[in-house]
Amino acid sequence: MDYLKIEKSDNLHGNIDISGAKNSALPLIAATILSKSDVILENIPNVVDVKVLIKLLMMLGADSKIISENIVSINTRNISNTQVVYDMVRKMRASILLLGPLLARFGKCQVSLPGGCAIGARPVDLHIKAMSNMGADISIINGYINAIAPKGLRGSDIIFDKITVTGTENVIMAAALAKGTTTIINPAKEPEIVQLCDVLKQAGVEISGQGTNEIVIVGSDGELLNFSNISIIPDRIEAGTYLCAGAITNSSITINNVIPKHLEAITNKLKEIGFDIEIDSNSITILKARELNAFEITTSEYPGFPTDMQAQFMALATQCNGVSTIKERLFENRFMHVNELQRLGANISLLGNVANINGRTDLIGADVMATDLRASSALILAALIANGQTKIHRIYHLDRGYEKIEQKLSSIGVKIQRLKGDSV
Ligand code: UD1
Repeated sequence: MDYLKIEKSDNLHGNIDISGAKNSALPLIAATILSKSDVILENIPNVVDVKVLIKLLMMLGADSKIISENIVSINTRNISNTQVVYDMVRKMRASILLLGPLLARFGKCQVSLPGGCAIGARPVDLHIKAMSNMGADISIINGYINAIAPKGLRGSDIIFDKITVTGTENVIMAAALAKGTTTIINPAKEPEIVQLCDVLKQAGVEISGQGTNEIVIVGSDGELLNFSNISIIPDRIEAGTYLCAGAITNSSITINNVIPKHLEAITNKLKEIGFDIEIDSNSITILKARELNAFEITTSEYPGFPTDMQAQFMALATQCNGVSTIKERLFENRFMHVNELQRLGANISLLGNVANINGRTDLIGADVMATDLRASSALILAALIANGQTKIHRIYHLDRGYEKIEQKLSSIGVKIQRLKGDSV
């Protein structure tokens, strides 16, 4: 199994180009099921999660063509199979995104229940409840969600008790082909939701309210849509991770191809810690700080501080003076990185969903194990300032969501190598 070897690299400089957002690419790939013809996706990140979802569509009968490294064309005309098997859902929970579009187009599908994962139980009850409100008959048999709507889905009012990103996306896609109007109350407001709505709007669906507390969608009553070429928005989490690489090493670096508005919660927190941040129309530069101050974070839905950046800021907190506090509100078990950061010498105490990080601490390189996607990037950040050498194992987590991570980090001066064997 591959692992990463990182030497202390605390004087970084240069620029990094940010890739397309994995979490926008995934629902848009699922949305190609709603299309009449080929859909061209540009700025698509070449990461494992994206490849898995495209492979899944192909297992259902779709065709895909790689036009260039970051441009893919997908045609779902020949889909004949509507069963999303456990083996694929197990590899990637976001496969649940096929539930809404398959049901809307074919009036039936079977999608394996995802089960728990490293960061918590992660139920999909809200997805199921919403589909049944839209007229689907749903039963759970042998671990599969069996959904049937022989007369198609009908628009309805969907009230989410809890904000769910992929749940909102499933309803949006289902509503796009449903008969009548769907109103989603308390939807997610993430930029990835807004992009999905904008794309469907361009494809002919009447949609309003994306990015607000209420989205209204007038369905096409089963008629497939006409997509234009789609350019995936930049990945705000990848961007935030590289800003943290600048922050933890107190170096000045620039990230290009970003939408600064999407990163406000992150850049504001970095300013609070003591960094000067220069923001241009599509780039952000982090400048050295005189002193790094402890901070408090409570993770939240967009536009709040993203749970997907919590682990990276925990690594950063080890270099801030004083006690930083991180409260995880969204996932009950998203602290698997704590043990690994402690192995590097971090002084962290955990009580329920609150972590207190006592800084500043000198970290020392060690063998550590990645436990989930964002935890892996926190370990990379910690390795940048840990004395000596750190080996990060189980990096397949990282490959799910970071495109060309070694190349990008090397280009700003990180001593990083991907090596084979020596797995844990
Ligand atoms: C998405 C993102 C993930 C991010 C998360 C929160 C994608 C592919 N993934 O995941 O990177 O960390 O949003 O920003 O976009 N919940 C339920 N029942 C449901 C659905 C969700 O109780 O049916 C709960 C979850 O357990 C969690 C909370 O709602 O506590 C938010 O989860 P959700 O927004 O659904 O996360 P994902 O869409 O899976």
